[in-house]
Amino acid sequence: MSAIILETRGLTKTFGGLTAVNDISLQVAAREIHAIIGPNGAGKSTMVNLLSGHLRPSSGQVIFNGQDITGLAPNRVSHLGVGRSFQRTNIFPSFSCLENCMLAAQSRMKNSFRFFRRSESYRAVCERAEKALELCGLSHRRERIAGSMSYGEQRQLEIGMVLATEPSFLLLDEPMAGMGKEESSRVVELLAELSREYSMVLVEHDMDAVFSIAKTLTVMVNGQMLASGPLDRVRNDPAVQEAYLGDGEEQF
Ligand SMILES: Nc1ncnc2c1ncn2[C@@H]1O[C@H](COP(=O)(O)OP(=O)(O)OP(=O)(O)O)[C@@H](O)[C@H]1O
Ligand SMILES: [Mg+2]
Repeated sequence: MSAIILETRGLTKTFGGLTAVNDISLQVAAREIHAIIGPNGAGKSTMVNLLSGHLRPSSGQVIFNGQDITGLAPNRVSHLGVGRSFQRTNIFPSFSCLENCMLAAQSRMKNSFRFFRRSESYRAVCERAEKALELCGLSHRRERIAGSMSYGEQRQLEIGMVLATEPSFLLLDEPMAGMGKEESSRVVELLAELSREYSMVLVEHDMDAVFSIAKTLTVMVNGQMLASGPLDRVRNDPAVQEAYLGDGEEQF
């Protein structure tokens, strides 16, 4: 079995009287896609926010590469190698694809606010951005104004922007949301390719996509974990079958 890269222990987040994430313990191994599925409001995005440092847990721990990162600020978590995307598109629409990736790349450089002063830093940022565009399959759109591309390509660019921060771990919150079949199958291929090199938590509604690329799966409902573990085991778990998968029909 591969080494565990990311682990949560009893992770819990309450908003007033609502427990959005309730005692979640899961493990993600190296170079695997760990999918989190569950109906609207299950707590999936809250979970991502807890992992990325955008929210502080009420209790519990997040361990990344053996280090307790619970409660660290998002930029610290990003510097440790955890890159994330957001459920809603988060690009700069009037900038080119390359510029978007450059902005993302420099956000993780030390002294990022004065990086243009030094030409070698500028070059490093360019190189990172070019590489990220290549990895996300958008090199041919290098100079294209991001807002003028199709929705699918804009979401692809977002993945590129995450990659430009040179993470080792990706947190992707519904990267296929709102895409057509063809666009989402291109992203599925991209994620499968990326999982050879990166570990990943993928929040996704598209069951076909999840089942084709995830190796491990957590099912959440009302903040609670219904099951977590290897894909086939969780898929066949009677509680999961009964509550979410029905008799093979997609229910969310
Ligand atoms: N900042 C917040 N303040 C108060 N309540 C919140 C906050 N963020 C999320 N919630 C609540 O926590 C619950 C879980 O929300 P979350 O966004 O994590 O769900 P989700 O599984 O990502 O849903 P979706 O599939 O719709 O994206 C919801 O009831 C939501 O209203
Ligand atoms: Mg969400």
